[in-house]
Amino acid sequence: MRLADKRILLGVSGGIAAYKSAELVRRLKDQGADVRVVMTHSAKEFITPLTLQAVSANPVADSLLDPAAEAGMGHIELAKWADLILIAPASANLMARMAAGMADELLTTLCLATPAPIALAPAMNQQMYLNAATQANLNTLASRGILLWGPAAGSQACGDVGPGRMLEPLELVERCCQQLAAEPLLAGVRLLLTAGPTREALDPVRYISNHSSGKMGYAIARAAREAGAEVTLVSGPVALTTPADVTRVDVESAEQMHQVVMSRVGECDLFIGCAAVADYRPEQVASQKIKKIGDNDQMVVKLVKNPDIIAAVGALSAKPFTVGFAAETVDVEQYALDKLQRKRLDMIAANDVSREGQGFNTDDNALTVFWQGGQAPLPLADKLTLARQLIALIARHYRR
Ligand code: PMT
Repeated sequence: MRLADKRILLGVSGGIAAYKSAELVRRLKDQGADVRVVMTHSAKEFITPLTLQAVSANPVADSLLDPAAEAGMGHIELAKWADLILIAPASANLMARMAAGMADELLTTLCLATPAPIALAPAMNQQMYLNAATQANLNTLASRGILLWGPAAGSQACGDVGPGRMLEPLELVERCCQQLAAEPLLAGVRLLLTAGPTREALDPVRYISNHSSGKMGYAIARAAREAGAEVTLVSGPVALTTPADVTRVDVESAEQMHQVVMSRVGECDLFIGCAAVADYRPEQVASQKIKKIGDNDQMVVKLVKNPDIIAAVGALSAKPFTVGFAAETVDVEQYALDKLQRKRLDMIAANDVSREGQGFNTDDNALTVFWQGGQAPLPLADKLTLARQLIALIARHYRR
């Protein structure tokens, strides 16, 4: 009952994902929340007020100018009643009206009148979501402190594939729990995090790199932000969107990553090294494209060692709480424990990257986390779920 005594006002706007709102109400109530539903006019085309009244066990409000409703709980009282306003689904139209500060129906009016945090779970066609107008509205809302939860990407009711799916009810409930937790796990903690691969140039068009997609590191950035941390993400080249409210610094090579980390590490409390940093780089970077020479069947490239970023952080006299990763294909535990000691880490997440379906460039992963005198397995799960578990574990040790 993680939401016992919490009052959640669920706003439902018009979109096909509104069919999930009834399930969302039930799952919020499972956690002990008192839920009141406010619908826009178009939401009623997708789901009936009666259904939401039955599952919430509260009257559903939909009109600003309804004397009967105002005689019960008026709109200002309703705005003050809520500990959190969650709008799921949040349509493009509703977000545009909110961005413009309109009070044209009950739900938009409540959003202006409430002192409570507001979270939106966008849901719409992927092209509508990617449209510059929608993106500008989302940026405006985010800059006002409105929380944006999702959307997820995938196949859509209209047959398109892309971003715009509403997060699943259980995921939204988890966000509500975290948002309303008495004290977020990493409230006020300054996290510096590396993610993704590095690229080590051979010439202007070629480089040495690895298969890291950045998914694990970006999931950690998101989970840490949800847990209240101020997150700076030092990212190698990846094709991922920056998680909301996270500061991202892009780098290419290990040397650049090293330079950015060392210039910022003095201002962080917690450092997590999730990046797959190249241990070696070509000694010479050719200024022009290296040409194939007719009768040469072989080419020798001399590599030199890159700086070990996390070891440099671990060697600082005033070092932050430092968490590393160990990507290994054999003797995973032994190598991870060696890195824990040698690099002077507080914790290390051992990642067996020899296993199918986990590790590099996958959606799922499994880790075993080690620290001095202890260990915890985090079994196979999607990377965001795993990141949340890892952050909870780190927070317990960090706070000791
Ligand atoms: O990005 P994804 O596709 O989601 O994949 C996730 C992942 C497999 C990359 C991630 O889970 C992971 O295991 N990251 C660590 C990869 C790695 O380089 O491990 P390592 O065992 O080589 O390095 C050990 C630690 O030293 C790591 O914290 C690494 O960031 C750090 N390191 C390594 C070399 C170096 N020159 N500087 C470093 O800081």
